[in-house]
Amino acid sequence: MKKLVTLLAMLVMLASGASAQESYFGGQRVLIAYFSWSGNTQRVAQEIQRLTGGTLFRIEPVTPYPTDYTECTEVALEERDNDARPAIASTVENWNDYDIVFIGCPVWWHTAPMIISTFAESYDFKGKTVVPFCTYASTFRDETLQKIVDLTPDAAHLTGLGARSGQTSGVQAWLNSINDEWEENGGSTGINNVSATQGDKNNVTYDLSGRVVKNEEASHGVFIVSKNGKSHKVLK
Ligand SMILES: Cc1cc2nc3c(=O)[nH]c(=O)nc-3n(C[C@H](O)[C@H](O)[C@H](O)COP(=O)(O)O)c2cc1C
Repeated sequence: MKKLVTLLAMLVMLASGASAQESYFGGQRVLIAYFSWSGNTQRVAQEIQRLTGGTLFRIEPVTPYPTDYTECTEVALEERDNDARPAIASTVENWNDYDIVFIGCPVWWHTAPMIISTFAESYDFKGKTVVPFCTYASTFRDETLQKIVDLTPDAAHLTGLGARSGQTSGVQAWLNSINDEWEENGGSTGINNVSATQGDKNNVTYDLSGRVVKNEEASHGVFIVSKNGKSHKVLK
């Protein structure tokens, strides 16, 4: 009896694994490449993996980012302002085998962390379909998704997902919709959508977690003030 139960469990696992793999993007091979500093983007990446049966690739810097939040924001800002290309510790094996490449990251200082630029410039995206995703506290979701699209001009793109604080509840509905999008286009190239715009990027002050703060509350500490599309760090 115990053996039978084990056998049945194995069959169920096999069946569900196989159907997950085949039910999205016509069974084409999926890679989920992501960078995550505090785990939110990793959670979303793992959910995409669970549902698509794709392969996870964690983009890890050769030089780890500081574990202290404020120090990390400082390194990140410096990298962004210097258009840095932080080195990546490992490479994707069998790159040519993948057709659909999800690229995910947190929003860092209004855009994708510079290590995403390193990643995008390290591989040939011709013939691939890139799907951007990001996690964020409150702002610059669309700019970050757009950045991933801009970094991969040779690829086709499907509509991206921005998951606030790394929430995974919307992942399945999103995958279903981009699968439809992919099927409608016959799996061909030339799709270049990112999510609809949201958020007010003008005249906003927010803290280092990306939380919008009202000006009167912004009395002590380090804040980012965003005005007319430009932003700078202020110490109050
Ligand atoms: C250096 C740094 C910069 C950030 N900048 C923003 C930002 O501009 N807008 C925003 O909404 N959140 C910002 N955040 C918050 C992260 O995007 C958010 O917490 C994200 O889900 C973290 O993902 P992770 O856990 O995968 O690293 C920033 C966080 C860090 C560490």
